[in-house]
Amino acid sequence: MEQELKDLRVEFSNALASARDEAALEAIRIRFLGQKSGCLTHLMRGLGRLPADQRPRMGQTVNSLKKEMDAGLAAALAALASPERRSDGLDPTLPGCAPNLGQLHPITLVRRELEEIFISLGYSIEEGPEVETEFHNFEALNIPPDHPARDDHDSFYAGPGRVLRTHTSPVQIRTMQRCQPPLKFIAPGMVFRRDAIDPNHTPAFFQLEGMAVGERVSLADLKGTLTVFWRRLFGDRIQVRFRPSYFPFVEPGAEVDISCILCLGKGCRACGGSGWIEIMGAGMVHPAVFRAVGYDPDRVSGFAFGMGIDRIAKLKYGIEDLRLFWENDLRFLGQFRNESPR
Ligand code: PHE
Repeated sequence: MEQELKDLRVEFSNALASARDEAALEAIRIRFLGQKSGCLTHLMRGLGRLPADQRPRMGQTVNSLKKEMDAGLAAALAALASPERRSDGLDPTLPGCAPNLGQLHPITLVRRELEEIFISLGYSIEEGPEVETEFHNFEALNIPPDHPARDDHDSFYAGPGRVLRTHTSPVQIRTMQRCQPPLKFIAPGMVFRRDAIDPNHTPAFFQLEGMAVGERVSLADLKGTLTVFWRRLFGDRIQVRFRPSYFPFVEPGAEVDISCILCLGKGCRACGGSGWIEIMGAGMVHPAVFRAVGYDPDRVSGFAFGMGIDRIAKLKYGIEDLRLFWENDLRFLGQFRNESPR
């Protein structure tokens, strides 16, 4: 019996050394220690048949082999769970912390989507400074110092003759000063107004300006362009309508509405039951604006439009409160993924 035990021990340690997974370890456990037909279990049962004087010593040997096997199995199992566990306590196989990959801000996603559409229509992208001269922000846009439109804009002044731009329209002026017609560009950017902060107003927000100037640019071109644009953004069933309105730098001027993107015109909560959403300002460039940049209003015509990017993002994503865009709560920002441009 002694020899049997020795052989069993060698067999066990060989088996253990070649076990590669939990199933293999379990098979070894059953083979050696299984209740019914384990080899060692079998030997233990045979102890009773030994002469009484041999029983205690053999009993001890069998028991210690059983303990050794139990411990060997447990250690092998632990090693499987963490094969690289090191004595310094560092376990390089533990799952790491997933790096928090950055994502684009929802406003950036929407801005890029709008840009893609206009780029596909042949528009370039222009920029201007956020701290503007009163000339570019107001005068050249046909808004003289005493003009009531200056009150609407409630500007932040940044020193004499300087304002934080209240709209992206001054980029019209800068681009026309720099380039000769024909031109076709958009100008996305941050603008500033001294508004009280509420779910629909933040003192800084984003606009996207657009302008096309050439020899025979018409109101029909404007309407066609905007119709294509809004349908690309929100789908082919979108209708676009113009309501006469006033902006000093365009004539005629219009407020542009699109049919409600949720109810498509039937009337719902999002559109206040009207079926339409007021979405932007537009119009034909005022002759005074052309004169301010040295263009001849008898030779060129043009259209201009301006829209709020935050408002579009709010509509697109169904966000109730514009302030969320500024709070930088990662739980909010993490919900927006880039969509491939349509
Ligand atoms: N600049 C205007 C605004 O901020 C929008 C606009 C742009 C209107 C171009 C007409 C033409 O409200």
